[in-house]
Amino acid sequence: MRHDTIAGSAKSSVRTLRREELALLRDHLLRLDGASRRDRFHGFIDDGFIERYAKKCANDGTVIIAYLQDGAVRGAAELHPPEQSPDSQPEIAFSVETAVRRHGVGSTLFRYLIEEARTKGYRSLRITTGAQNEAMRALAHKFGAHLTFRHGESTGSIELEPQRQPEPASLATPIVADAARAMVNFNRAYWRMWLRMYGWGRAA
Ligand SMILES: CC(C)(COP(=O)(O)OP(=O)(O)OC[C@H]1O[C@@H](n2cnc3c(N)ncnc32)[C@H](O)[C@@H]1OP(=O)(O)O)[C@@H](O)C(=O)NCCC(=O)NCCS
Repeated sequence: MRHDTIAGSAKSSVRTLRREELALLRDHLLRLDGASRRDRFHGFIDDGFIERYAKKCANDGTVIIAYLQDGAVRGAAELHPPEQSPDSQPEIAFSVETAVRRHGVGSTLFRYLIEEARTKGYRSLRITTGAQNEAMRALAHKFGAHLTFRHGESTGSIELEPQRQPEPASLATPIVADAARAMVNFNRAYWRMWLRMYGWGRAA
């Protein structure tokens, strides 16, 4: 996946973390407060667990798409490889720090994650969250997940057949305007690449 710096801003970007950057994920998860950790991991989570979890992600093929501000990860979308789940359905998970919530960061990360999953050829993704987790349920619904309740958890699948995605999150919100610009730049680069491949974009 691309590693694009947000055009027009040295401060924020959305990109895939490299393996050697996984400490940034750890630091982000360690900054989550108790309630957020419970929501993210479905239970009580101490610092030791987070340290081990971040290390595991660095070594097991998990793709981390991160929202960075001034070099620190403030939000992350995780795409776990299918081999990790019994029915080979890749699991996804999200975390956004409280200070940048409700500005479209989660939605932007979701959009990038879907793009990455499609690139990998995945046909569906699974999301699991606490039954009371309104925020994650709203985010999952926005991207077409149908969640069902079981044992205090909501689980749902997102099908990746070509489909219309929701409109971009409000660009009036400064935090995500930058990330949205990166998407546009990426799309332009993508089409330029195709045009070049087929010889249509060559200068005369
Ligand atoms: C869930 C989470 C990732 C959402 O991140 P976010 O950056 O706030 O998400 P967005 O701003 O893109 O909002 C996405 C949608 O959810 C809605 N939403 C967000 N928080 C909400 C809340 N607390 N209650 C109801 N709806 C909420 C937003 O209104 C938005 O819908 P809209 O675009 O139609 O207005 C974030 O709250 C979080 O990290 N929570 C703790 C960890 C967690 O629960 N992870 C999920 C386990 S996988």
